[in-house]
Amino acid sequence: MDVRLRIAGAADAEAIRTLTREAYAKWVPIAGREPLPMQADYHEAVTRHRFDLAYVGEALAALIETVPEGDQLLIVNVAVRPGFQKRGLGVRLLKLAEHLADEAGLKGTRLYTNKLFAENIRLYESLGYHIESEETLPVGVRVNMAKPASAYLIRPATGADLPLVRSWRERPHVRRWWGDPELEPEAEKLADPRIGLFLAAREGRPFAFIQDYDVHGWTPHHFGHLPPGSRGMDLFIGEPDMLGQGHGSRILRQFVDALFARGVPAAGIDPHPDNAAAIRAFEKAGFRIASGPLETQWSRALLMERRPG
Ligand SMILES: CC(C)(COP(=O)(O)OP(=O)(O)OC[C@H]1O[C@@H](n2cnc3c(N)ncnc32)[C@H](O)[C@@H]1OP(=O)(O)O)[C@@H](O)C(=O)NCCC(=O)NCCS
Repeated sequence: MDVRLRIAGAADAEAIRTLTREAYAKWVPIAGREPLPMQADYHEAVTRHRFDLAYVGEALAALIETVPEGDQLLIVNVAVRPGFQKRGLGVRLLKLAEHLADEAGLKGTRLYTNKLFAENIRLYESLGYHIESEETLPVGVRVNMAKPASAYLIRPATGADLPLVRSWRERPHVRRWWGDPELEPEAEKLADPRIGLFLAAREGRPFAFIQDYDVHGWTPHHFGHLPPGSRGMDLFIGEPDMLGQGHGSRILRQFVDALFARGVPAAGIDPHPDNAAAIRAFEKAGFRIASGPLETQWSRALLMERRPG
């Protein structure tokens, strides 16, 4: 299913209202009233909250409405048009909200639902939400649920990060696989629109570097067979005390999950065939060996790929 995401503007308010009313209609007989999102003023909400809209082909199929509240991102409303339900769109948008919370440096996401909507509570629990509290309101019992942020803060690198990245590239354990730090300097990559550079931090300490790139930005490219929009990537852990503890595979999984939540159709990674630790770490992050070993224009490589699902 080809899903396109975009952030809503003021002109989308009516479409948001229509979709939300359709999606929540099934709860009216259970709640004995219209759930609050059916009655909200979306002309006003769209000016204060972020709405991410998911299109399948030309059709608006789903949306998620979020707003930072304190140190968490509140999911105000997630709605999938009835004809598009049960196809993974809701989960995808909920995961998008988690990544938005991560990117904003927030401590996680939270949401609330009606206690009578048991199916929703089960879904949220399966995604890692836990019930924080229940409140008895005049309109029914509200269940407050929350999910903590991902373990790593992954953010785009800036020019100010380059000395740190350079110091990591000089470390023997990185040099061994990434080569001479003078080659392919990060300053050049920062200015290249085909490439994204990121730092991963845990508990406020940056310790790893990720670069990702458009696999169709070079011709030929050994990942050129992947669908348009696919990203290739490389990573290293810069701080030696963070090696070999599962961080590499978990960062990569988190990074690729965020790409998939934004609609990237496939990811590729190309470790050196002798780099057994990297190959194992990438397998743990959900990548499978697709072909190789082969000689690319950059180095000898094993091609590993991961797709959503
Ligand atoms: C590759 C890298 C990102 C992996 O991150 P990491 O946090 O160290 O890796 P993880 O702990 O998640 O997983 C490593 C796995 O390889 C295994 N491993 C380590 N050394 C190994 C070796 N010599 N042979 C086989 N397996 C090995 C580990 O046991 C572990 O698997 P397990 O959990 O099943 O026991 C990191 O080691 C690194 O930065 N290396 C230097 C730069 C580099 O090689 N980058 C990749 C370039 S493509």
